[in-house]
Amino acid sequence: MKLLGIETSCDETAIAVVSDGKRILSNVVSSQVKLHAQYGGVVPELASREHVQAMVPVLDEALRAASAEVEDIDAVAVTHGPGLAGALLVGLNFAKALAFALSRPLIGVNHLEGHLYAAWLERDDEPGFPALALIVSGGHSDVVLMEGHGQYRRLGETVDDAAGEAFDKVARLLGLGFPGGPAIERLASEAAAPSSRLPRARLERPYDFSFSGLKTKVQRIVRGEEDEAPSRAALAAAFQESVVDSLVTKAVQAASDSGACEIILSGGVAANSALRSALAGRSPVPVIVPPPALCTDNGAMIAAAGYRRLISGETAGLELDIEPGLRIG
Ligand code: KG4
Ligand code: ZN
Repeated sequence: MKLLGIETSCDETAIAVVSDGKRILSNVVSSQVKLHAQYGGVVPELASREHVQAMVPVLDEALRAASAEVEDIDAVAVTHGPGLAGALLVGLNFAKALAFALSRPLIGVNHLEGHLYAAWLERDDEPGFPALALIVSGGHSDVVLMEGHGQYRRLGETVDDAAGEAFDKVARLLGLGFPGGPAIERLASEAAAPSSRLPRARLERPYDFSFSGLKTKVQRIVRGEEDEAPSRAALAAAFQESVVDSLVTKAVQAASDSGACEIILSGGVAANSALRSALAGRSPVPVIVPPPALCTDNGAMIAAAGYRRLISGETAGLELDIEPGLRIG
């Protein structure tokens, strides 16, 4: 069964053709990053306009790369939240029009669930439950217990900035481009050693995160308001180390407290190699991490999550609406 996965929640126009929720026949991502980089972050109105222009060419390319005709598509899965309202609307309306014209089922997918299901793309095994998921992206830092397909319990979340947002903000403080995550990772790799240890937030709820104090600390160092004056690379490395340590410590703790049999790491920040290797090194259970290109936003993950919903009969009608504030668990 071939599913089309459509993703437009932020600044990538992405469409994939995926067979049986696992095999990627094509996965086309048209990134708007250059457009937004000049403003230092995503400009919602520009994102919507770019999505409108990119939808048809991206669909054509996704079908061509999959050697498929549009009539070969068996169902249309689309992100309906969370994300930017205008951006989500473009993808959702496009998906509805396609599903209606082709008389195929429409499936609304939670973007965060898409990040999770990216973990089983191109793998033969099935998830082991309960699984502990760490979803870290530009908009979310969630610790979620996945008790079965579609069954989630949110154990922790960020109380302020998301991990990716912290990378993006600190990158700006260090005069680096947007998106900040890859730029910080590159700069940090140039440091001989991290500067002195930066703080880790202590929070009431054991699996919650906070990154705004860390960001303020970096800001004070950059402005010369602290005693230390490390190199930019050493500061980037110390920042990355602090974020990675917080994420890994809490995910590992949550996994052992909940008896999880594996940890799934996903979302754009999961492309970070320091995070990937620290989690693999410290986790007491197997860690499943998609390859970096499937960690950042893409259509294949939406088709993968959509397939699960489809086979359990959860299709949507044309009244399906966007849910910009949708959560998981
Ligand atoms: O999942 P994603 O592509 O979009 C959202 O759903 O938000 O995540 C984008 C976020 C950005 O904040 C970006 O800076 C971060 O993921 N990111 C990284 C890396 N690659 C992307 N953060 C740290 N290290 C990376 N290598
Ligand atoms: Zn995402």
